[in-house]
Amino acid sequence: MAGVTKLAYLGFNVADVSQWRTILFDILGLEQRSDSADGQINLRMDGHHHRLSFVDSDQDSLAYIGWEVDTIDQFQALYNHLQGMGIGVEMASEADKQDRMVLELMKFRGPDNVPFEVCLSPFHDNQPYTPSCPRFGAFNTGDLGMGHILMCHEDTQAAVKFYREALGMKISDYIHWDVAKATFLHCNPRHHSVAVCNPCFGTEAGELNHFMLQAEDIDDVGRAYDRVSELDVPLVLTLGKHTNDKMTSFYMVTPAGFAIEYGYGGAEIHDSDAWDVELYNAPKIWGHNLVE
Ligand SMILES: [Fe+2]
Repeated sequence: MAGVTKLAYLGFNVADVSQWRTILFDILGLEQRSDSADGQINLRMDGHHHRLSFVDSDQDSLAYIGWEVDTIDQFQALYNHLQGMGIGVEMASEADKQDRMVLELMKFRGPDNVPFEVCLSPFHDNQPYTPSCPRFGAFNTGDLGMGHILMCHEDTQAAVKFYREALGMKISDYIHWDVAKATFLHCNPRHHSVAVCNPCFGTEAGELNHFMLQAEDIDDVGRAYDRVSELDVPLVLTLGKHTNDKMTSFYMVTPAGFAIEYGYGGAEIHDSDAWDVELYNAPKIWGHNLVE
């Protein structure tokens, strides 16, 4: 079945990119590309040219969500599949391909009109990723993609249907707690590349609640947690462990209002057919206390 295989990158319009520097560089250790265009910060976290892009704007908004396929056959099959479903998919311009630093790129709108893109063959750099603060290990990316996102949607059933039927994802599990009902979906062994939730906890329909980056060494998460206190970066949730993906993580508030989750040890699903889809009644085993 046609579908995406990874979360590749994210793009944001931001009102004041200078406000992001502490989180991006001092906490997460991302590398700013020296070849970023004027008014834009492209950030690197592994072999890819960049996986995060922040563009100076008059307001904060999610500019695009970039998914990835592995082969030209998958790319063409997905394009045909989306067309067949009546989804208005277009091949991107050379300028957009150059901006995202990918070989091929298609664009379309997802649930709640969110801008989606699917790329083939992101450019890999022959120079090693250079963290902007010391790290013990790498970010967990590669075949698992850059991490995960949690999106809030007005019609969650329609959104889940879109991720399953248009993008070929499979349901990992569900968590229902307080006013939130979340569905988690995977497209590679990472427990989830996207979670779909009803609008809640201040996140409106069509908005990003958070994105997650995963470290391969828990000490990088622990030391980042220390730096959050030292540098007075506001938290949404304290350090804790999730029930479903078993991720140990914490959540920081960003200047745009959404959160960044930074974690370690997320579960992997290597055989979707043998995976039991559970419903959990809470998102946390311990910790993850809401910071008012
Ligand atoms: Fe998360």
